Order: sequence, then C-alpha cells, then structure tokens
Amino acid sequence: MTVSSLLAGKVAAISGAASLRGIGMATARLFAEHGATIAILDLDGAAAAEAAALIGPQHRGYACNVTDRAACQTAAEQIAADLGSIDILINNAGITQPVKTLDIDPASWDRILDVNLRGVLYLSQAVVPFMQKNGGGAIACMSSVSAQRGGGILGGPHYSAAKAGVLGLAKAMAREFGIDGIRVNCVTPGLIQTDINAGKISDEKRTEILAGIPLNRLGEPKDVAGAFLFLASPLSSYITGAVIDVNGGMLIHG
Ligand SMILES: NC(=O)c1ccc[n+]([C@@H]2O[C@H](COP(=O)([O-])OP(=O)(O)OC[C@H]3O[C@@H](n4cnc5c(N)ncnc54)[C@H](O)[C@@H]3O)[C@@H](O)[C@H]2O)c1
Repeated sequence: MTVSSLLAGKVAAISGAASLRGIGMATARLFAEHGATIAILDLDGAAAAEAAALIGPQHRGYACNVTDRAACQTAAEQIAADLGSIDILINNAGITQPVKTLDIDPASWDRILDVNLRGVLYLSQAVVPFMQKNGGGAIACMSSVSAQRGGGILGGPHYSAAKAGVLGLAKAMAREFGIDGIRVNCVTPGLIQTDINAGKISDEKRTEILAGIPLNRLGEPKDVAGAFLFLASPLSSYITGAVIDVNGGMLIHG
C-alpha cells in the first residue's frame, strides 16, 4: 500500500486494540499506515505493548480497563506525556453475551453495559480535555447493527441496549464539543469475523446469515478500520454526530 499522510503527525488512542485479529488492531495498523502514532489501550498492558510493537517501535501499549475511570485518566495522561498529545480517540473496546431477555441477570447487565457504554463515557471524559487544549480532535465510537435492528446475530438485548446507548452518548458529545473543534461519530458494523464470534457460527447459520447480506460475505476487521480512518481524518472534517453502517447491506435504512 502507498504511504499516505491522512493522519500524519497525529496521535491516535484506540481502546480494545490488543486482540490481534480484532477490529481495534486492524484500525491501529491502518492508522499507522496513514502516518499516525498509535496508543493501544487494553486490559492487559503487556499484550497491548506487544500489539503496538508489532506495528512499529514508535507505537505504545497501555493497560486500561475502560470501566475504571481512574485507569482511563491515568492512561490519557501517560499517552499525552509519552506521545505529546491525543488527536484521535477510537472507543472500540467491547464485549458481548448471547442470552435472551429473561435470562439477563443483574451482573451480566452491569458487565455488558459497563464495558460497551460506561467505558465510552470514561475514556472520552479522560481524553476530551487534551483535545480541547489542542484545539480539536476526532472521536469515533463503536456501536453495532445490533443497536439499530434490535439484536445482531450473537449479542443479547443488553448488548443491543448498550450499543444503542453509545449512539445517544456520541451524538450528545458531538453537540457539546463541536464548539471545541472535536467531532464525534459512530460506526455500526454488521457481522465482522473476529475472536468475539470465532467458532460461534455453524455452517448452516452462516449460510442463513449470508442470505441476508447483499454483498454476500461476512465483514473483515479492515472493513471497519476503513470507516474509522475516514472518521478520524480530515476527509470527514464537516461530519459530526453521524453514524456509518459497515454491514454489507445487512440493514439498509428507509
Ligand atoms: N465482530 C463483530 O461482529 C462486531 C460487530 C459490531 C460491533 N462490534 C464491536 O467491535 C468492538 C471490537 O470487537 P472485536 O469484534 O474486534 O472483538 P475482540 O474480542 O477481538 O476485541 C475486543 C477487545 O476489547 C478488549 N476489552 C474487553 N473489555 C475491555 C475493557 N474493560 N477495557 C479495555 N478493553 C477491553 C478485549 O481485550 C479485546 O482486545 C467491540 O466493541 C464489539 O462489540 C463487533
């Protein structure tokens, strides 16, 4: 791939990016190809540092559980100290659980809402002040087709609720921080092949799913990374509060 300067000189923090076959890591790789320096945030600091090193020596990894407000604050401060600033935040960390409404126990509700929704708030709260100081920034948040159609394929209703919450939170932040030159947008992927669903789809189910996808394939992490690149770059300079579907046509809006 040719080197582009779309993100030249920018520092991008990406949560949940240590999983090597995940969307966060694909996004980190693509952003680095386009000139950004990457800060990978994930539960295990060593795994985050190893993932960052795979991209190149200038990139860094940090331990950060996004459900822990103090940990988000510490990570943001460390990134700014190590790399000079934070220009881009990708709120990507997330978990899912395939259960039905009547089977959602309080602990599962808390766990799914905490990582997928509360984590977006906490990490954004930690990073926004640095963006305000810089005179702007771009935040992109991970939602899901599950938020739009009331369930994706594998996530339960609590996952749909959390990902729908992300859309509301991101739109409200877009409205609040536009004045600071900070854009906030979301992506809503369909079914993307990563560790979150690996081994969980039978051949029969896969055929059934593909019948509902006009592009006739499941998504790959780099499909979502491309949408994040657009939202992080000046190509989307007048776009805020928007939602980009990355679903192969699985859901086409009226
Ligand atoms: N794969 C799909 O089909 C799909 C579709 C729509 C949305 N998503 C969303 O995309 C995001 C990335 O998922 P993926 O498919 O790449 O899966 P993945 O499991 O490969 O990646 C998720 C990452 O989040 C990290 N993580 C989990 N809890 C965390 C926490 N508390 N703090 C920090 N990091 C944490 C994990 O360690 C992992 O690295 C998730 O938010 C997921 O809900 C995935």
